[in-house]
Amino acid sequence: MSSNLLTWGLLALGSATIQAELFDFERKQLDPASVVGSMVRFENGSAPANTTLPTCKAFPGQLDWPRDDVWRELAALLNGTLLRPAPVSSVCFHGTPYGNYDAAACANISASWGTTFVRMDHPIEPVSPMFEGLTCVPPGSGPANSNNTCTQGGYPVYVVNVSTAAHVQAAVNFARNENVRLVIKNTGHDLSGKSLGAGSLSVWTHGLSNIELITNYSIDGYSGPAFHVGAGVQAKDLLKAAADHKLMAVTGICDSVGIPGGYAQGGGHSPLSALYGMGADQVLSLQVVTADGEFRTASPTEDTDLFWAIRGGGGSTFGVVTSMVLKAYPDATTAVATFDWGVRESNISLETYWEGTASYFSHFANFTGQGLSGQFFLYPQEGRPQGADPNAEPRTSVTPFFGVGKTLAQLKHAVQPWVDEMAGLGIRMNTTWAEFPSFYPAYYSQLVPTSLGGVMPYNMTYGSRLLSRASLAVDAQRGGDTGGLNATMAAFRALAEQGHMFNGFQLAPTLATGRPVGPDGNAVLPAWRDALSHTIVFALWPEEYSAAQQMAFRRDFAMGRHGMQLLQDATLGSGSYMSESDQLEPSFQEAFFGSNYVRLLAIKRKYDPHGVFFASTGVGSEFWKVHSVDDLPTENGQLCRV
Ligand SMILES: Cc1cc2nc3c(=O)[nH]c(=O)nc-3n(C[C@H](O)[C@H](O)[C@H](O)COP(=O)(O)OP(=O)(O)OC[C@H]3O[C@@H](n4cnc5c(N)ncnc54)[C@H](O)[C@@H]3O)c2cc1C
Ligand SMILES: *[C@@H]1O[C@H](CO)[C@@H](O)[C@H](O)[C@H]1NC(C)=O
Ligand SMILES: *[C@@H]1O[C@H](CO)[C@@H](O)[C@H](O)[C@H]1NC(C)=O
Ligand SMILES: *[C@@H]1O[C@H](CO)[C@@H](O)[C@H](O)[C@H]1NC(C)=O
Ligand SMILES: *[C@@H]1O[C@H](CO)[C@@H](O)[C@H](O)[C@H]1NC(C)=O
Ligand SMILES: *[C@@H]1O[C@H](CO)[C@@H](O)[C@H](O)[C@H]1NC(C)=O
Ligand SMILES: *[C@@H]1O[C@H](CO)[C@@H](O)[C@H](O)[C@H]1NC(C)=O
Ligand SMILES: *[C@@H]1O[C@H](CO)[C@@H](O)[C@H](O)[C@H]1NC(C)=O
Ligand SMILES: *[C@@H]1O[C@H](CO)[C@@H](O)[C@H](O)[C@H]1NC(C)=O
Ligand SMILES: *[C@@H]1O[C@H](CO)[C@@H](O)[C@H](O)[C@H]1NC(C)=O
Ligand SMILES: *[C@@H]1O[C@H](CO)[C@@H](O)[C@H](O)[C@H]1NC(C)=O
Ligand SMILES: *[C@@H]1O[C@H](CO)[C@@H](O)[C@H](O)[C@H]1NC(C)=O
Ligand SMILES: *[C@@H]1O[C@H](CO)[C@@H](O)[C@H](O)[C@H]1NC(C)=O
Repeated sequence: MSSNLLTWGLLALGSATIQAELFDFERKQLDPASVVGSMVRFENGSAPANTTLPTCKAFPGQLDWPRDDVWRELAALLNGTLLRPAPVSSVCFHGTPYGNYDAAACANISASWGTTFVRMDHPIEPVSPMFEGLTCVPPGSGPANSNNTCTQGGYPVYVVNVSTAAHVQAAVNFARNENVRLVIKNTGHDLSGKSLGAGSLSVWTHGLSNIELITNYSIDGYSGPAFHVGAGVQAKDLLKAAADHKLMAVTGICDSVGIPGGYAQGGGHSPLSALYGMGADQVLSLQVVTADGEFRTASPTEDTDLFWAIRGGGGSTFGVVTSMVLKAYPDATTAVATFDWGVRESNISLETYWEGTASYFSHFANFTGQGLSGQFFLYPQEGRPQGADPNAEPRTSVTPFFGVGKTLAQLKHAVQPWVDEMAGLGIRMNTTWAEFPSFYPAYYSQLVPTSLGGVMPYNMTYGSRLLSRASLAVDAQRGGDTGGLNATMAAFRALAEQGHMFNGFQLAPTLATGRPVGPDGNAVLPAWRDALSHTIVFALWPEEYSAAQQMAFRRDFAMGRHGMQLLQDATLGSGSYMSESDQLEPSFQEAFFGSNYVRLLAIKRKYDPHGVFFASTGVGSEFWKVHSVDDLPTENGQLCRV
């Protein structure tokens, strides 16, 4: 196959309303005329559509999987960007098809596997290998009963290391034409393993790291500074670029998460959320390659339904985003605090501990009303975040608590009523205070760079709930513990007593703070607009559990009366944050997308009628199933229609 199939054309984009210049890498597009009849041809309207759609995606070892010479042709077409990566731990195993056993390299990877191995910079390694299926773990690093073998399992088979829009278009066209499962990997942070897929071709966006400041971007009522960022830009890059220009930008608390990837597309919460809303609310326009291979601009005036859907409707569902334009804000003095109290540390009774914890939550409306965001951890027992223990001595740690735009004196004043209330309950808190001239040093004073972050435990599941204003309302205490703060605290306590740890956030990304551009806002789960907290609950199972035991444990946690159902009952009518959630969330459509689901599904069908894109628990995923080898919710199996 000749390389002239890739004649980069500067295609006329046909719209005067495009505000941001395209990046150079986006001007390199696939010319439809030059690929007619090839394996990377565009969707052709005359082709038979759904009548002939196969039940399953092609799978290695089966007849419909493209032959080696087809992959070689694709490789030639992609000019060296098609990779066939082996799992990093394959160096630990003799007799694999990879044939790359290397004791020294294995010792190295074993030592860094759990903690410092840089998964974000690797074409296939995810942060949560559990969803891969744990088919290639360094000996001694995995669960006790993991196989001493290494296979490709739930890892993609081929990866396109994209550096142009044409690479993305070619990958999408190939996957669609050849019925190959397509996945997208950015950093691999996804907590449900959505950047994985057995028998797949992966679009790896990590290299699209351009950042450009637009000093005055005007669109649909917004007028001000903005950053045009490539799909691979991570929080640390954006935070730094903003600080360099005396600006701030919305990112999460983990500085290696990919901003235009799963973060902004899935919602995106931030220490700035109480002031400026969600990550998705920052998006002013975006570029995307859709399932038909077209490169499009979606904005308040172009493909407006797609623009609405991508901002909150989730990654790997509507297309491959290549860049976004995001709001930026003037930098500000930032005060930070931390607060700790616990049964043992504060020498208080268990009852007093829970009264203090309820006092903290009762102030969320006031804190967020003053623009104060924060993160909290609730440990069921000091120093041991697991295991039911009747003598548990719980502890709450609020770290960090941000007063962006506040001096230290202003922050102290803002929280004084609560601090007094805690003192009144006889709770001595460990407190730290600091003030910084700008946001960047304040962020890094509290949130350690997690670029070298480790792997999520193999024996852990998690679920999450948005806590609505009503569910934290003190007033509802009067007349019974059937609603409001008391009921929510009762649910917290019941979960903590079973040994579950909590990690949550105080924030209020209301429509007033978020102000998304566009004719009809965006697809962020409506429950976020009424939320004062997003709270994640973790559950660990004994390492030696079999697949069936794990499944029983996980179902019980997700759906059983004594698991997340307790918090669901206390926050009835709220929802769950799709990007930090349980893959077994019952009625995920309602929980993750709420009243937006019907419209999101219609837009999914319009732009991706044949199911090129799939993400577990994503929009339209109920029509597909991954047939995993051991029936656990992993990506280690063939993807088929149901
Ligand atoms: C340690 C840690 C801390 C976190 N902290 C926060 C936080 O503070 N706030 C918060 O909101 N979230 C947080 N998250 C959750 C995070 O936002 C999600 O995991 C998110 O999906 C990561 O996006 P990614 O693109 O970096 O990761 P990936 O796993 O690479 O991608 C995530 C999903 O998006 C898809 N995707 C990626 N790029 C594209 C693209 N260009 N076009 C279309 N689809 C794409 C992928 O296919 C996948 O489905 C945290 C996660 C971890 C592990
Ligand atoms: C669609 O297919 C027909 C028949 O193969 C071909 O003549 C036509 O050029 C194709 N169009 C595009 C846009 O690929
Ligand atoms: C094919 O898709 C169209 C539009 O989505 C739908 O109306 C039609 O019923 C489908 N046909 C079959 C056979 O599934
Ligand atoms: C392939 O890469 C080489 C070296 O970077 C470059 O010179 C050539 O133009 C590329 N070919 C295509 C079709 O992109
Ligand atoms: C060990 O890992 C480090 C860091 O990733 C790397 O620089 C080094 O080359 C590795 N050594 C071997 C023997 O693989
Ligand atoms: C472990 O090996 C057994 C037997 O070969 C196989 O059935 C099972 O799927 C493997 N498990 C994993 C996680 O690879
Ligand atoms: C991916 O492509 C970039 C250039 O775009 C290159 O620098 C990098 O080394 C490639 N990575 C791999 C693993 O091939
Ligand atoms: C930004 O652009 C808008 C519209 O063009 C204009 O009204 C506004 O004054 C500009 N702001 C600055 C600071 O230049
Ligand atoms: C405060 O922190 C110190 C040092 O970390 C610890 O020893 C002490 O128990 C803590 N006290 C309270 C009340 O949290
Ligand atoms: C803890 O509190 C009890 C009374 O509530 C008191 O008797 C005891 O001295 C306190 N211990 C410490 C170390 O402060
Ligand atoms: C927070 O509480 C203080 C003290 O009760 C009150 O003066 C202030 O108006 C409250 N602010 C908000 C935004 O609720
Ligand atoms: C609500 O909780 C408070 C503090 O824990 C408690 O004093 C009160 O009795 C509870 N109210 C009801 C109705 O349960
Ligand atoms: C979960 O796994 C970790 C690490 O392998 C282990 O330390 C911990 O004890 C396990 N938890 C349970 C409840 O077995």
